[in-house]
Order: sequence, then structure tokens, then C-alpha cells
Amino acid sequence: MGGSSELSGPNLTEGIPAADLADGQLLVGHAQGEAVLLARRGAEVFAVGATCTHYGGPLAEGLLVGDTVRCPWHHACFSLRSGQALAAPALNPLACWDVEQRGERLYVLGRRQQRPEAVTVHSGLASVVIVGGGAAGLAAAEALRQQGYMGRLTLLSADAAPPVDRPNLSKDYLAGTAPEEWIPLRSPEFFEQQQINLLLETRVARIDVEGKRVITEAGVSFDYDALLLATGAEPVRLAVAGADLPHVHYLRSLADSRAIIAELGHTKRAVVVGSGFIGLEVAASLRARGLDVHVVSPDARPLEKVLGPELGDFIRALHEEHGVVFHLGQQLRAIDPAQVTLADGSSIAADLVIVGIGVRPSVALAEAAGLRTEHGVLVNELLETSVPGIFAAGDIARWPDPHSGEHIRVEHWVVAQRQGQIAARNLLGQRQPCNFVPFFWSQHYDVSICYVGHAVGWDKLEIDGSIAARDCRVTFRRGERTLAVVTINRDLESLKAEARAEAALRAPS
Ligand SMILES: Cc1cc2nc3c(=O)[nH]c(=O)nc-3n(C[C@H](O)[C@H](O)[C@H](O)COP(=O)(O)OP(=O)(O)OC[C@H]3O[C@@H](n4cnc5c(N)ncnc54)[C@H](O)[C@@H]3O)c2cc1C
Ligand code: FES
Repeated sequence: MGGSSELSGPNLTEGIPAADLADGQLLVGHAQGEAVLLARRGAEVFAVGATCTHYGGPLAEGLLVGDTVRCPWHHACFSLRSGQALAAPALNPLACWDVEQRGERLYVLGRRQQRPEAVTVHSGLASVVIVGGGAAGLAAAEALRQQGYMGRLTLLSADAAPPVDRPNLSKDYLAGTAPEEWIPLRSPEFFEQQQINLLLETRVARIDVEGKRVITEAGVSFDYDALLLATGAEPVRLAVAGADLPHVHYLRSLADSRAIIAELGHTKRAVVVGSGFIGLEVAASLRARGLDVHVVSPDARPLEKVLGPELGDFIRALHEEHGVVFHLGQQLRAIDPAQVTLADGSSIAADLVIVGIGVRPSVALAEAAGLRTEHGVLVNELLETSVPGIFAAGDIARWPDPHSGEHIRVEHWVVAQRQGQIAARNLLGQRQPCNFVPFFWSQHYDVSICYVGHAVGWDKLEIDGSIAARDCRVTFRRGERTLAVVTINRDLESLKAEARAEAALRAPS
């Protein structure tokens, strides 16, 4: 998953002709043994680390937008001025370098000392409580400290593990190619330094809206002046005979992924129930582990509802090339210890069953507290719920998306993190609307699919390039409106589609 660490391009400490870096251009070289990215914006030249701090994406292949650079792999956004990670999924800043023009040449001098700006806000809040230690909850906690919030900060998580890189749990981690140390998003020392009181295995049972406190299942209560709900989603459970057998697994948490891995020593044949993103990623990872994998799904094609028939067929062929056997248009009737039975009476041998039939937003707390819900927790453009002072972000939040013009709820990692960051600013009174364009990626073997926007009910699907050749841009339209753009091996086009959609939002209507 990491990018190449080999140095390439010129040694920038020896200087390059200034004319080699045109306005709006990115150029990669190195300085003092590190990869450095040069970027020009008019008369200004910036020098920052060339490797994305998320998974090591090559920023030289990314996009320059204003005074930011966007990563080609999963669209993290960095400030060229400060190196700061402005938008998830990257959490850490880039190194910054001093750069100078002498005569007709540009020289990278030395690495700049970077100290996080010491800011203090006077928000009037003495205590912020965040319920949920996942993508949105952690991003919010970090953003609160970055924004200068100095008061009490409590992060309550039902998980046994500190916040983890959840998307990895179905990909490299499950495939056995990501070491354990890649999985936690932050170290225990980080929480200590940032004075974030992270309490694990702490499930909130109730919100006392009048008393402004949350009460855990163990009966401990935490007072808040502002509250963020980021409780994510739970896997939908299968309701067939045998669904509670010990070899039947779901995948949401690190504990779930570990439980599947623990079975692999004595497992040869797996059945994956469901042909959505998680089910298919699991199928790919189990193939990488050498298991026989069968996928059972009622759908005619995998992922057709999200990606359309052409991409659905491609995904199916891709998995078949890697040895996955599909049973499409099929329902599961029963699970036994050594096999599953389908509705048509046929059976498939299986000593491991993974169920990936979707998730439901975890809205029970919000509902019981009387917050407005509608297939999710309803929030306004500031991510505030129907109760002032209580915000919601991530998989549970249904927000007015200005891009589609609809209230939407999505289950994407980057969206949850960015919403966490926005909710944090709004808890502090900054009134930043949630108006970024949704993005997600999904990895199947060596094919990464990037998706910008949100398309439900498109009436036209335009394919540029060749899906089979893994070089394409697929545009989902309703009338003349572009709802979403999916790309394979066209990362720059994906970034440009995102930048165009953002610009359209800013343009006066
Ligand atoms: C295996 C897997 C792979 C994925 N891969 C991708 C991908 O490739 N790309 C992508 O865009 N998205 C992916 N996703 C989806 C993405 O991970 C989610 O959209 C994202 O994690 C949502 O963030 P969240 O903060 O809303 O919820 P979560 O990250 O699920 O966090 C919710 C947290 O709330 C806690 N919680 C719940 N109820 C309570 C309570 N009552 N009290 C205290 N704590 C509570 C939970 O324990 C958890 O810590 C994947 C998801 C999974 C499970
Ligand atoms: S590697 Fe850059 S955003 Fe993931």
C-alpha cells in the first residue's frame, strides 16, 4: 500500500532552471535524501514532501488546486504553504522546504522547522463529548485540538481497539499483507499528548438532553456543553437457519477481522454472502490467502446498483479471473457447519462464512433522545441535529448535500473523516457548511476504483476509454447534470472531476 521510497528527478539543492517549472506545474526531485515536490503558482514556488502521508501516494501525479495539492490515490488535500493536511484521509502534514530563486535557477535550501500553530479559541465550551471512536469521531477530536479547543475532550468508544484504519480490515490486513502496526490510526501517546480522554469498551446507553450528559451502559455519566454523535453503522444480520453458528462472521471492527484471520489455519473453503464492496474485498483477500471462495448474492451482477451494469460485469470478470465463483440471483436458505444451502436446493461446501449484506446506521441513541431521524440522523448543513448543541457525522448523518441537492447519507471513510473535521469546527461556532464532494475508493486485487459524487437514479451512463482494459472514466448523469464520476487508472481525471464539482458549488447560481 505504501508508495515507492526511491528518489527520482534532479537534486534540487543543486538547483534547476526556473523555466523548467511552469506556472501550475508539479515537479518531483530530492533534497538531502528526501523526495521533494516543487509547485509553482504564478510568482510563488513551494517545496513540500513528495509523498502523501496517508498511504504514500505520489503527489507529483496529483492535482494543484489554488495553493493546495491533492493526492491522486484517495484525494487527501495538503496546503502548499504550511504542509498541513487540510482534508482527510491524510492526517499528518507534509514536510516543508525553503526554496529560493537565484538568477535563473531555483534552489531548495533546507527543511523548514514546522511547529503547529499555537491557537486558542474561546468557544465558551468547557466539555465536549464525542460518542464513537471511528473515522468521524477521531477526526473530530483531532480537529478540535488543531482549532485550539483547550477544554475537556472525551472520546467514548464501544470498540475494544483504539480508532483503526477500518478500510484496511477487509483489504491488506485481511489478506495478510499489512502488518499490525499499520492498523491503529494514532498511538496511545498521541491521545495522551493531545489530552483526548479516549475510553474504550465504553458504550453510551442514553443521552440526557435536558441535563446535557451522556450515560454509559456501566452507569457512568459525562457532562457536555457540546456533543458529537459518530456511532457509525452495524452490519445487517442474516436471518436464516444456522446464521448463529461459530464459523459465521461479520466484518466491522478489528476484532471481527482478527476473528476471521484466526479461522484461516483450519479453513479451506469460504462462502461470502453479499456482493457489495465489503463482501468482494473480503473475497479478494481470502483468495490471496489461498482459500476457495464462493460469493452468493441475490443480485444479477455485483455492485450493479452503485456502479451500473458495465462496471458490475467487469468486477465479476475480475474476481472470476482470480478464481472467485459467483452464485448470482441466489438466496441463502441455511448454513450448516460444513456447507451452505441455497434457495434452489443446491449446496456449497464451506467451513467459513462471511456475511456482507450491508449495514444499518446506529441511530438508536439519537432516536431514544428524540433527535429527528429518517434512515439516519437528520442534520443541517452545519451537521447540527434537530437539538441545538448536538451534532452528528459519518455513517449516521443524513445531510443536505448541495452537490446532489438531496439529503443523503453515505458510508464512506473519507466522508466520515471530513464530516468529523467540519463538525468539530462548527461545535466551536465556526459555521462551516458541509459542502465537499463525496469521494470513496475500493480496492480489488490490483484495481482501484475511485468514485466522486453521489449517483442514485441516473438516466445516462457515459463510458470514456475501456473498462475491460482498466483505463476508463464512467460518468453518471441525470439530464445534463453530472451526478458522479468513476475512474479506473485515471486518477488525475478523478481529481479534476472533484475539483470541477467543487467549483460548480462555489459558482453563483
Ligand atoms: C471492512 C470495511 C472496509 C471498508 N472499506 C472502505 C473503503 O475502502 N472506502 C470507503 O470509503 N469506506 C470504506 N468502509 C466504510 C467506512 O469504514 C465507514 O464509512 C466509516 O468508518 C464510517 O465512519 P464513522 O465514524 O461514521 O463510523 P465508524 O468508523 O464505524 O465508527 C463508529 C464508532 O462508534 C462506536 N459506537 C457505536 N455505538 C456506540 C455507543 N452507543 N457508544 C459508544 N460508542 C459507540 C463504534 O464502536 C465505533 O468505534 C469500510 C468499512 C468496513 C467495515
Ligand atoms: S495515499 Fe494519498 S490519500 Fe491515500
